[in-house]
Amino acid sequence: MTVATIYIDGKLRQANPKQNLLHACLSLGYDLPYFCWHPALGSVGACRQCAVKQFRNEQDTAGKLVMACMTPAAESTRISIVDPEAVAFRAAIIQGLMQNHPHDCPVCDEGGECHLQDMTVMTGHRSRVYSFGKRTFRNQYLGPLVNHEMNRCIQCQRCVRFYREYAGGDDLNAFHLRDTIYFGRHEDGVLENEFSGNLVEICPTGVFTDATLKRHYTRKWDLQMAPSICVHCGLGCNTTVGERYGTLRRIVNRYNHEVNGYFLCDRGRFGYEFVESNQRIRHPLLNGKAATKSEALERFGTILREGKVLGIGSPRASLEGNFALRTLVGPDRFFAGTSDQELQLLSTMLRILREGPARSPSLNEVEHSDAVFVLGEDITNVAPIMALRLRQAVRQSPIQIAEKLHIPEWLDHSVREAVQEEKGPLYIASPYATKLDDIAAATYCAAPDDLARLGFAVAHAIDPGAPVVTGLLPDLEKMATDIASGLLGGRHPLVVSGTSCGSQSVIEAAAQVAWALCKVGRHAALSFTMPECNSLGLALMEPRPLSEAVSAIKSEPTKTLVVLENDLFRRGPAGAVSSLLKDAHHFVVLDHLDNGTTEAAELVLPAGTYAESDGTIVNNEGRAQRFFQVFDPSTDVQESWRWLREGAIAANSENGAPWQSLDDLTTAMAAEMTVFASIPQVAPPRKAGGKIAREPNRYSGRTAMLANISVHEPKPPNDPDSDLAFSMESGLESAPPSLIPFFWAPGWNSVQATNKFQSEVGGPLRGGDPGIRLIEPSLEAGWQYCSTVPAAFRPQPDEWLLVPIFHIFGSEELSRNAQGIAQLTPLPYVALNPVEASQRGVNAGERIKVSIEGSLFELEVTLRADLPRGVAGLPVGLLPVGGIILPAFCRLAPILTEPSRGAL
Ligand code: SF4
Ligand code: SF4
Ligand code: FES
Repeated sequence: MTVATIYIDGKLRQANPKQNLLHACLSLGYDLPYFCWHPALGSVGACRQCAVKQFRNEQDTAGKLVMACMTPAAESTRISIVDPEAVAFRAAIIQGLMQNHPHDCPVCDEGGECHLQDMTVMTGHRSRVYSFGKRTFRNQYLGPLVNHEMNRCIQCQRCVRFYREYAGGDDLNAFHLRDTIYFGRHEDGVLENEFSGNLVEICPTGVFTDATLKRHYTRKWDLQMAPSICVHCGLGCNTTVGERYGTLRRIVNRYNHEVNGYFLCDRGRFGYEFVESNQRIRHPLLNGKAATKSEALERFGTILREGKVLGIGSPRASLEGNFALRTLVGPDRFFAGTSDQELQLLSTMLRILREGPARSPSLNEVEHSDAVFVLGEDITNVAPIMALRLRQAVRQSPIQIAEKLHIPEWLDHSVREAVQEEKGPLYIASPYATKLDDIAAATYCAAPDDLARLGFAVAHAIDPGAPVVTGLLPDLEKMATDIASGLLGGRHPLVVSGTSCGSQSVIEAAAQVAWALCKVGRHAALSFTMPECNSLGLALMEPRPLSEAVSAIKSEPTKTLVVLENDLFRRGPAGAVSSLLKDAHHFVVLDHLDNGTTEAAELVLPAGTYAESDGTIVNNEGRAQRFFQVFDPSTDVQESWRWLREGAIAANSENGAPWQSLDDLTTAMAAEMTVFASIPQVAPPRKAGGKIAREPNRYSGRTAMLANISVHEPKPPNDPDSDLAFSMESGLESAPPSLIPFFWAPGWNSVQATNKFQSEVGGPLRGGDPGIRLIEPSLEAGWQYCSTVPAAFRPQPDEWLLVPIFHIFGSEELSRNAQGIAQLTPLPYVALNPVEASQRGVNAGERIKVSIEGSLFELEVTLRADLPRGVAGLPVGLLPVGGIILPAFCRLAPILTEPSRGAL
């Protein structure tokens, strides 16, 4: 990196000349107040809070006031932060901003973690000097996730800049009338953007706050917090989870430069409420009745002693839980808790990432891709933060326009003016229209086989050595050529695909494109989305297919089935799952929430969620990351691996008992499975300084909060599994980045304290970003193109190909039990193309019968013009009955009170 020598208050400093002075000062550790600037959004110079005095040279003593965020950190720049005129200017600015501010910190949800509070203190402002009335606004209802209190606004513009320009939303805006400006929607209503929850952190005041937290409010300083990983999709965004009085209160973003950066999606931020849902299992259940822990373990031990135990793992359980089960039952009796189809797709993606030349990128690398081809995925609903990153990726190529005009990248609105509507090449081919289509250079909606054919054709257009696709229509030939040339024109091309289409061919076609790019000398990246938070981790354990468990149980019906954190009714047809469970002599389930599988179990053991457990999960990149227990539940709820260990002890089994702590378990896992050799280093031990406090040093009521039970201060529970303590003693100093429970620094109580933990503001965390990559591409040239190109899809006269449609709210199993998310979850439906629907006399809103491979549903019809002919859509996770493996052909029939007229 080129370095600029600058002078700050007479001291010589080294700065990054590509940054502005505010960025550079903050990176160097100076406390300079600001509002409108944000490392992810750049500068617009709206608030005037970051003023400093700039001098022409050493002889210049007068200087001039400049906005630090609008001035480059150029070589030999001389500035003063402490110059009296600059100090007075900043004080005047904040006085102006506070003139209309309600000063309602005691009742403001932001109080105690407010950037405005911090900056006010930093600037020295104490009293309001203007004694007339304050301007007031009406607040809006913005839905169940985000609360609005407009009086607190300081007009910094960050909210609309994030929402509209960064996240692509269009239902939040700045409305001007005379001398007032209002930030909100044109009318009350639910915020439509999937990233609306980030307003809570982007807004430096209490205008936008967490509406779910409001239901069980507590101050930040009263939260017990731990570093965690989101479990609601396969991307592994880093989170900070907060607890008070034994219940989860909220989730905020935990910065990881390589993964989620500064942002979370709304499913990830607000899905936490499932932990406290009414469906939660908090005590063991024996034959449907509450049992004590010792009764449960006694029965578990008895069952295990009978032997012949089969274990079904889970893509939403930790590596440790899966490994404990695998150890208990033996590798030969460990089965995947996914449909066979999904396991097959996961194994294919794993093979491709290991054997092929294309690297799976981090999400940060996704954002820096400059030519992208999405094949078969609805990214916004399946892997939301990747969609947010892709929205920035389309800016990579046009930014060169600004570069040519010598406009620095951080000068946000000047760059946007220069670039106008120009977008880099993003091509999306998927079964239905997606929410990223608005920024795509070209889109194509088709059945999965046709998507795969397009992919193979693109690969051939890139490298004529790749197999040719015969019978392609001229339009598609042209599209394939255009996509190929767009990808070839990028310096960092990226191909994205995944399991959403349920198609092996789509995955292979995506790999083919990336490999063709590598073959012709491009450093192409290949990113696969994963259906669940630890899908890749489970695949790395190489479990046997679920259907083999069905056969094994059938062939010897005395066997015991132990199911780990899994509702099998989501994995296969209800009939097949019921018969599997019926055929098992004993049936034990470990899980968090009541579901069809737990209802059928003889013994249910209450498994800790991510909030009550420690564990490791592997994201779509192949990055293993650790989540840590936020609080000790002090109930029977405990980690799945502990239940399995204690069951093994109760059974006097040789398998699975030796681990006393998580470290013992991860060490054993690393020793047994070479792919997990680095797992113990995912959360390295703290070198010095003892434990790290989960509670901030202002944590209140430690003695008094349980005074109704005892006036003696209870001893904090011990945590044998990590270097974190359930206490406010000890500090953050020298905490490894993966173990930082919350970001806080003196004078920086808001989320902006993240600045103090980064090697440079907006860059990696000091000490390296959390996580260890487990998969790297092959350096050998032995890979070969796939030669199986599917035939073109032909619509059937009386059947529709049902493809899965994903919803950010509702498709994921756990978050749909969160109160706020449940309110935004659509009702079940079947989606049809309106032309085909009208040809058959079906109207939107009517109910029809849908028959899929022996299952029959009555569903309301939704019309979607984006669906290809012969293709219908079924929402994932919304049906009253799960386990439909898609894509699959279905028949449709009207619902008649009289004898049926037959199929439509
Ligand atoms: S609502 Fe918040 S983010 Fe938006 S302009 Fe006002 S203070 Fe800034
Ligand atoms: S993108 Fe996925 S991992 Fe990230 S916050 Fe959303 S649901 Fe969680
Ligand atoms: S932060 Fe510089 S003007 Fe707002």
